[in-house]
Amino acid sequence: MIDKNYIQFFDTTLRDGEQTPGVNFNTKEKVQIALQMEKWGIDAIEAGFPISSSGDFEAVQAIAKAVKNMTVVGLARCSEKDIDAAYDALKDAVDPQIHIFLATSPIHMEYKLKMTKEEVLASVAHHVAYAKQKFEKVQFSPEDATRSDWDFLVEVVNIAIANGATVINVPDTVGYSNPTEYGNLFKYLKQNVPHFDDAIFSSHCHDDLGMATANALAAVENGARRVEGTINGIGERAGNTALEEVAVAFHIRKDFYQKETGIVLKETKRTSDLVSRLSGMPIPRNKAVIGGNAYAHESGIHQDGVLKNPETYEIITPQLVGVEQNSLPLGKLSGRHAFADRIAQMGYDVTDPAEIKVLFARFKDLADKKKNVTEEDIHALMVGKSIED
Ligand code: KIV
Ligand code: ZN
Repeated sequence: MIDKNYIQFFDTTLRDGEQTPGVNFNTKEKVQIALQMEKWGIDAIEAGFPISSSGDFEAVQAIAKAVKNMTVVGLARCSEKDIDAAYDALKDAVDPQIHIFLATSPIHMEYKLKMTKEEVLASVAHHVAYAKQKFEKVQFSPEDATRSDWDFLVEVVNIAIANGATVINVPDTVGYSNPTEYGNLFKYLKQNVPHFDDAIFSSHCHDDLGMATANALAAVENGARRVEGTINGIGERAGNTALEEVAVAFHIRKDFYQKETGIVLKETKRTSDLVSRLSGMPIPRNKAVIGGNAYAHESGIHQDGVLKNPETYEIITPQLVGVEQNSLPLGKLSGRHAFADRIAQMGYDVTDPAEIKVLFARFKDLADKKKNVTEEDIHALMVGKSIED
C-alpha cells in the first residue's frame, strides 16, 4: 500500500552535485558521503554515471557494495551501452535502480539530439523496455521537461510507464520554471497521465532563478512523491534543490504540507559539513538551515527577544539540525540585555544597573569602530573598568 504522505528523498550530490565546476570526489570520498547519506535517511542515492568514466564506474560499484539501506542509482542515456554499464556497476546493490534520460524540449531535440518527436518516443519506448529486462526499478527523466510541450510530455511519460518505468522524474534542467508553473505541470500530468498513480513522480530542480526549493515544494503540493536534489544545493551552474531546505520545510511547516520523510534531521549539519569539506565548497554564511548565520542574532531588539524566548525570532531550533547552539554576536546594533548576558557568561559578576550602563556605553563606543567585538575585546574593556575603579 503506497503512503502518499511519505516523500522520498533522492540525493544526487555524487552525480549532479559533482557537475559543480571544480568539484571532483574520489571513490573513497564518494563512499564516505554515501554512508553519511544513509545515516541522514536518504531513500535513494544517485551514485554516478557509470558509462562516463572508469572512475565513475568504480565509484558506483563501491557504493553499491557499501550501502545497505538506500536504493543505489546509476545514470544512463538512452543507449544500450549506458544501460549495460549501469547494470554491471550496480550488480552488488541490495536495491538497484537505473535512471534513464532523454531530452524532450524543442531546442534540445532540434539542436542537441537532432531527433524528431517520433524518434524520441521510439527511443524512450525501446530503452525503457531494454532497461526493464535488467532492473525492476526504472526511472525515466524527460530532460528539460519544463521547456517541453506539455502534451508531448504526456505522450513521452505514457510511453515510459507503458514500457515499465516505475519513477518519472520531471527535470527543470535549466532552472527556468517558477512554483506556480511547476506545480501546474505536475497537476497537468496528474490529470492527463492515466497511470499517474502507478508511478512515483519526482521533482528535479535547478536554481538558476533561485527558485529550486520553492519549485520542489510546489511539485509535492501537486502530486510529486519524490524530491531530487543535493546537500548544500551544489550542482551544475547555480546548483540543485538544497535537500536540507526541503526536509526542514516539511518539518517546520508540517501544519501546511502534512508530509513525512525519512530524514534524520539532527544529521543535517554533519552531512552538510562533510560535503562542504570534501567538495571544497564553503557554505555561504547566510545559507538557509545550515549557514553560519542561520542561528545568529545581531540586532539589540532581536537579541532581547531571543533571550526572553528564542521562538520570538527562531523558527528552527539549531539543535534540530545538529547545530550546537544559537549565537548572539555583539556588534554596534546589540542591546544592553545581550551585553549583560555575555559578560555574565564570561564570569563577570556585575549586577548593578548603573555599572552595566557605564560598561555598555563603553562597549557601544568600541562597537562603532569595530565590525565584530570579540570576547578578547570585552575582557580588555572589563579590565579597563577595574583599573579605572
Ligand atoms: O537536470 C537534469 O535534467 C538532469 C537529468 C540528467 C535528470 O540532471
Ligand atoms: Zn540536473
